[in-house]
Amino acid sequence: MGTASEELLKHTRDVPDFPKPGVLFKDLTPLFGAPDAFTVVIDDIAAQHRGHVDAVAGVEARGFIIGAPIALALGVPFVPIRKAGKLPGETVSTAYALEYGTAEVEVHAGAFEDHRRVLVLDDVLATGGTAAAACALVERAGGEVHAVQVLLELASLHGRTHLEGYDLRTVATV
Ligand code: PRP
Repeated sequence: MGTASEELLKHTRDVPDFPKPGVLFKDLTPLFGAPDAFTVVIDDIAAQHRGHVDAVAGVEARGFIIGAPIALALGVPFVPIRKAGKLPGETVSTAYALEYGTAEVEVHAGAFEDHRRVLVLDDVLATGGTAAAACALVERAGGEVHAVQVLLELASLHGRTHLEGYDLRTVATV
């Protein structure tokens, strides 16, 4: 087995023109389908945050796949950050701009009341809009963003400029 970065890159598939022409999609299903490599990546992330966070907040949908095993490895709650209209309880929400129109993410109100130091987690940092909205949402819901962790950062899209002031961690940058 290689390092977390090597295993991630080895198990990421580039799909041109998906979901629309001109976009190079980073498909992580090969990583999710390779338990040994996936374990290396999860263990590496968990080791960085062990003892420093009280909850892991994963962004729908691929942030769920990575966030849940990390929360279990750390022994802290997993909090789903969902797209609008999916959570059954009272929610707190944040809207953010997309290329065309807006999107909205939500968490249950009070999700971080007893778990203040939050690790925000997603698979890919592209333009950064989603991660920035997730951080704003965590803070609006009473949490403190301890760090923002993604697997892959797409450097050419400069998403990190939306996350100034946050401790942004990446497994690999492409
Ligand atoms: C993708 C990805 C991140 C976000 C990154 O999610 O999983 O959440 O886009 O893009 P940004 O940095 O430009 O905001 P997507 O909206 O495709 O949702 P999905 O995970 O439910 O497929």
